[in-house]
Amino acid sequence: VGHEAVEYPTVGGVQICLPGAGALLASSLSQLEADRERHDAEGDTPPTLIAAMPTRTAERWARMRGAERCNLDALDGAMEPARAWLGEERTLLKGLSGSLAIQRSGWTGASLLPYFYLDWGGTPSFEQARTVVMEAAARTVRDFASVAVLGCGAGGLLASLAGRFDRSIGVDLSIPALLLTRRVLDGAELRLAVHPENPSLSDFPQTTVRNPRPPAGAVELVAADAGDLPFADGSLSCVVTQYLMDIVPDAGRVMGEIQRVLQPGGIWLSFGLPFRLAEDPLALRQRSEADLPALLPAFGFAPVESRLVRHDHIDLRPLSPLAVQRNHPALFFAARKVASLPAPAADAAFVAWFRGDAAAVQVLRPKLRECEALSYFLGLDARARGTAGFRVGGRRYTMLQPPSTTPSPLGALVHSYLARLDGEQTVADLSASYHLDTSGLVGEDDFVLALRLLTTLGWIVHES
Ligand SMILES: C[S@@+](CC[C@H](N)C(=O)[O-])C[C@H]1O[C@@H](n2cnc3c(N)ncnc32)[C@H](O)[C@@H]1O
Repeated sequence: VGHEAVEYPTVGGVQICLPGAGALLASSLSQLEADRERHDAEGDTPPTLIAAMPTRTAERWARMRGAERCNLDALDGAMEPARAWLGEERTLLKGLSGSLAIQRSGWTGASLLPYFYLDWGGTPSFEQARTVVMEAAARTVRDFASVAVLGCGAGGLLASLAGRFDRSIGVDLSIPALLLTRRVLDGAELRLAVHPENPSLSDFPQTTVRNPRPPAGAVELVAADAGDLPFADGSLSCVVTQYLMDIVPDAGRVMGEIQRVLQPGGIWLSFGLPFRLAEDPLALRQRSEADLPALLPAFGFAPVESRLVRHDHIDLRPLSPLAVQRNHPALFFAARKVASLPAPAADAAFVAWFRGDAAAVQVLRPKLRECEALSYFLGLDARARGTAGFRVGGRRYTMLQPPSTTPSPLGALVHSYLARLDGEQTVADLSASYHLDTSGLVGEDDFVLALRLLTTLGWIVHES
């Protein structure tokens, strides 16, 4: 695991294959501390006000405060190895690439807490998804040497697959989630609280979950982007995605990566919401089962089996009678790798750059992708969702999940950055002028790292 010639740290049993591990950890810790401060400040509600509340309201208030504390404690405990690893070194990644990396660091631990209940609380919805995937693996996989679960979240499916494969690796963009998953996999009890109607809020009731079959030390956890996998070509026998393809900004890029890392004849199992490609017009609905025979071969896969499964997603009903039912048709398919497609030329140029050879990157000519919507995944505040429009080079784009937590100077910087990428100027020209214009705030390394990030996101393509 890992990119050639780059060393990545392991923190609390999680290998961090993302640029700027220290900065990502520091930013997650600051977020947690800010949440704790907000919680404490709300606790300063005057006793006279609480005394004036009707009894039911006062009880609910106390329960909600207890639930928040419970979740903060769970995340705090999981982040302990990060605190120890960082020590006094709490420097945030500076510059454009650092800010972009921090902004898109996967789901917050808090927003993933309901998944810990689902995966480890013996819920029927998890059991259904698990059965679909495990039975399909038994039917379709020929070689049980290695499996990677991309966007593994709370790790329930990963733990089940680990019982079948010699080597199992969970990949997720969210470091706090992986640190928590590590603890649960290894046998720690997790106490958590989720709101029955809105799972991303902590409210009531509280519950305790644990892995019934620890320890799971052999399960490896890796923080990485599904669009930039730290695995060698042809190195895995199976890849699993569960509720991931619909939320990645560039599903085509993720499909390309899955195809690259699978061995010939390797199997990709996918379960979740139907998804779209970044270049699909917005008016076209998500691609679903009927589209697979055309879609999969374009990415080097042969469809093996597929079906729609009625599935209760984030089903908290076993926990509370107030929980809402979220039943939808989930798309399941198994696909076999039948062709090895060439990786985009720009990827090789970036790998050479990481190794210290800048020449191939300097001649790339980046431009903004032709599409209607660019999506951006917010790491810091999963609740800040919506759409925003912006204009670059006469084209109007819609940004899904705009970075509303981005301080506006950064927003302006990103905008001016994107506006320059016209497919004509080379990276060498662009980085030189950018360096001058920002008075050195954005250096050449920053410029290239930001390009790499935006390429992984699918916002930028490179003219050769
Ligand atoms: C909807 S949750 C699904 C979790 C789990 N697969 C399940 O179905 O219970 C999506 C997960 O994907 C992760 N994620 C989002 N974008 C990702 C990316 N580009 N690469 C890897 N993981 C990502 C999130 O941090 C989160 O854990």
